[in-house]
Amino acid sequence: TTPLRLGIAGLGTVGVGVVRIIRKQADLLEARTGRKITISAVSARSKDKDRGIPLTDYAWEDDPVALAKRDDIDVFVELMGGDEGPAKDATEAAIKAGKDVVTANKAMLAHHGQELAEAAEKAGLVIRYEAAVAGGIPVMKALTEGLAGNEITRVMGVMNGTCNYILTQMQATRQGYNALFDEADKLGYLEADPNLDVGGIDAGHKLSLLSSVAFGTQVDFDAVELEGIQAITLEDIDAAADMGFRIKLLGVAQMTGRGLEQRMSPCLVPDQSPLGQLEGGTNMVVIEGDSVGQIVLRGAGAGEGPTASAVMSDVIDIARGLRLKTFGQPATTLRKARAAKAAVP
Ligand code: NAP
Ligand code: HSE
Repeated sequence: TTPLRLGIAGLGTVGVGVVRIIRKQADLLEARTGRKITISAVSARSKDKDRGIPLTDYAWEDDPVALAKRDDIDVFVELMGGDEGPAKDATEAAIKAGKDVVTANKAMLAHHGQELAEAAEKAGLVIRYEAAVAGGIPVMKALTEGLAGNEITRVMGVMNGTCNYILTQMQATRQGYNALFDEADKLGYLEADPNLDVGGIDAGHKLSLLSSVAFGTQVDFDAVELEGIQAITLEDIDAAADMGFRIKLLGVAQMTGRGLEQRMSPCLVPDQSPLGQLEGGTNMVVIEGDSVGQIVLRGAGAGEGPTASAVMSDVIDIARGLRLKTFGQPATTLRKARAAKAAVP
């Protein structure tokens, strides 16, 4: 059998993690897919940066668009980030060149997922993005495969590791959230623009992707009611604790008679509940289906290993010949949902 050849654009936290897994687990990956998974070429901004991994086995491209179009790759793995610019240009170039795409880029998909999915599907290609939502938790696989026989009634959860880390560390260490940025950065949690994290925007991107898959609707990030954690003070955290609650950045999406409600905002959750006890960069996603009832998924929502694990699950699907649609059904069949103001807090 022929190997599955990757081109990886972006060698930061996630990209380095993916290269590490491919190097370390070559035999296991081949045993599980029946094919070798190889890296043909890589790209990042700085060729000379020490990334702690050997890169001399792979061709180097300064330009991610050139990487996306190379004849010696089958899958373009986009791990640069950003809703516009090189990530989108290179993804479009990959589709035009007939390459499947794996990405962790929720910002790009929240803004351009519909057009990218339609272009890919028209060309008989797949775009997969397990890593884009809730890091290491296989929530996309759960929705598109394990729960595909259910009508989903609600999805909710904590979906930003940075915010959960900052909120729990504020309580534990008495530091303000600004001081905790550096620690979140060291753990590889932060977006290139951390305002996306603390502003609730990154979690909103994730909620809009989850909604699309859960309800069969076109991604509508603009309809997500958003509030970040910037205004949360130690006094707020103490007041919540006095009443037996913790503050969490919680997302809820549900289909109602009035339309699709999507809200991401700081909420009070009981201290002793599973959500209240969620610490550090952990995420929790709760899915409710008409037949299955409630499913709770919990795990690392950010960082090198967990996110690379999710990227690899998409690469493995492609190596196995599983060609799942981007949003669980053909992009052209997704409805435009009427947006309803959330009644939930
Ligand atoms: P990162 O550490 O900032 O790495 C970004 C990489 O992209 C760097 O290697 C950078 O090159 C490269 N890059 C940026 N602009 C480029 C350009 N114009 N041309 C070529 N390369 C370029 O980011 P990350 O944390 O790995 O995140 C990558 C993606 O995964 C983002 O979409 C993010 O939202 C998503 N994600 C991250 C996590 C996480 O926990 N970190 C979790 C889930 C999803 P240099 O290294 O040379 O600067
Ligand atoms: N910045 C994101 C977070 C990375 O903190 O959750 C994972 O998507």
